[in-house]
Amino acid sequence: PTTTTFFDAVGGEPTFRRLVARFYQGVANDPVLRPLYPEDDLAGAEDRLRLFLIQYWGGPSDYQELRGHPRLRMRHVPFAIGPAQRDAWLVVMRAAVDSLGLPPDQYKTLWDYLQMAANSLQNRAD
Ligand code: HEM
Repeated sequence: PTTTTFFDAVGGEPTFRRLVARFYQGVANDPVLRPLYPEDDLAGAEDRLRLFLIQYWGGPSDYQELRGHPRLRMRHVPFAIGPAQRDAWLVVMRAAVDSLGLPPDQYKTLWDYLQMAANSLQNRAD
């Protein structure tokens, strides 16, 4: 029997490429988020997030090969992520998710995960 991953169901690599490209366009223009990201390597950050999400949802595991175990909580420690940064990240990401035009069940699966993950990566109090 064949199994379809969420990665396949939402349209595979092109969908994640669109999502993350849109997200980083938002980051580039966001005064709260932009200073947190590498000044001259937003494209590299875009690659890392895209490959992570592809792997997470059952696509190819290029992320693991390039970066090793995700350890997202540890990798975010250098960045001060309080409620304002978490909220800004989610506002920009929500616009990117909205732009995909996914059916409601897929939309909910993706958005619930992203909210949960963003909450778990907050590492500073108010
Ligand atoms: C990396 C900020 C939430 C996944 C980064 C980086 C920053 C950042 C500044 C470094 C950029 C780079 O790769 O050079 C934030 C903020 C968040 C947030 C402010 C708000 C809560 C998330 C969430 C996820 C995520 C929810 C996953 C669903 C990643 C990944 C990397 C990354 C995969 C690259 C890790 C690596 O391989 O080095 N993030 N992030 N982030 N973030 Fe976040």
